[in-house]
Amino acid sequence: MIKVLINGINGRMGQEVLTQVNNSEDFKVCSGVDKYNNKDYPFPVYDNVSSIKEIPDVIIDFSVPEASMNILEFAKSNNVPIIIATTGFSDEQLNIIKEASKIIPVFRSGNMSYEINIMADIVAKLAKQLNNSDIEIIETHHRNKLDAPSGTALILADSINDALDDKMEYQYNRHSVRQKRPDNEIGIHSIRGGTEVGKHTVMFLGENETLEITHTVTSRSIFANGALKAAQFLFKQKNGLYNMKDLI
Ligand SMILES: NC(=O)c1ccc[n+]([C@@H]2O[C@H](COP(=O)([O-])OP(=O)(O)OC[C@H]3O[C@@H](n4cnc5c(N)ncnc54)[C@H](O)[C@@H]3O)[C@@H](O)[C@H]2O)c1
Repeated sequence: MIKVLINGINGRMGQEVLTQVNNSEDFKVCSGVDKYNNKDYPFPVYDNVSSIKEIPDVIIDFSVPEASMNILEFAKSNNVPIIIATTGFSDEQLNIIKEASKIIPVFRSGNMSYEINIMADIVAKLAKQLNNSDIEIIETHHRNKLDAPSGTALILADSINDALDDKMEYQYNRHSVRQKRPDNEIGIHSIRGGTEVGKHTVMFLGENETLEITHTVTSRSIFANGALKAAQFLFKQKNGLYNMKDLI
């Protein structure tokens, strides 16, 4: 039985992870962390990382960047592998995560869905083949999402940019520029509203024709399932920085 600590346990994703752990024979929650807690659980939930008493086998983090940084310190001090699924990190925070992975196993992915990671491969291949097309990414999420663009839009953009030898610039929402679209640009646009769990479209706009690829999530259970698969995987790894490519 793998003992899990869920960071951000009272959030939408924390609750999904808890449901799946409770339905699993391989995992058990030993504790949780959340800034706000008014629920009763059969295990302790702390509002502060410094109060944690149990040492888990693995940590699953779906919270906010500040909370991820705190739990990462705990993970490092106690030599615990950590899955970081939170999004919206600054470059400095991403660097802290990278440094931590020299000491403990760290799995970070802005999207725990298997299909979206397949999509990242497909759009990279298409970008090379459709080299005269303009590329735009549109992402839609529920009204409560804090960060924009989504971590997934960045996964897709980075995958395309890698395939195109890192020569693309990212243009966010296009409101601040009054100029013709340059060729070496990926436009990234964020829509927020309603209860949409997550929808990503990559558009290849060519001469008189457009190819669009869309991925739509209808349940957060997809991400929780991916996080548990990542936990099974990470549990056996040595220190290093892992992502969905390692899992697939
Ligand atoms: N990687 C993926 O596949 C994936 C999928 C869905 C969501 N996400 C990301 O996961 C994160 C959480 O998403 P959500 O929809 O569950 O959000 P949410 O707002 O519902 O949950 C976040 C939780 O973190 C808690 N929190 C806030 N500050 C804290 C602190 N300082 N210490 C401890 N806990 C704190 C909040 O109280 C809340 O319960 C977001 O960054 C989101 O973008 C990633």
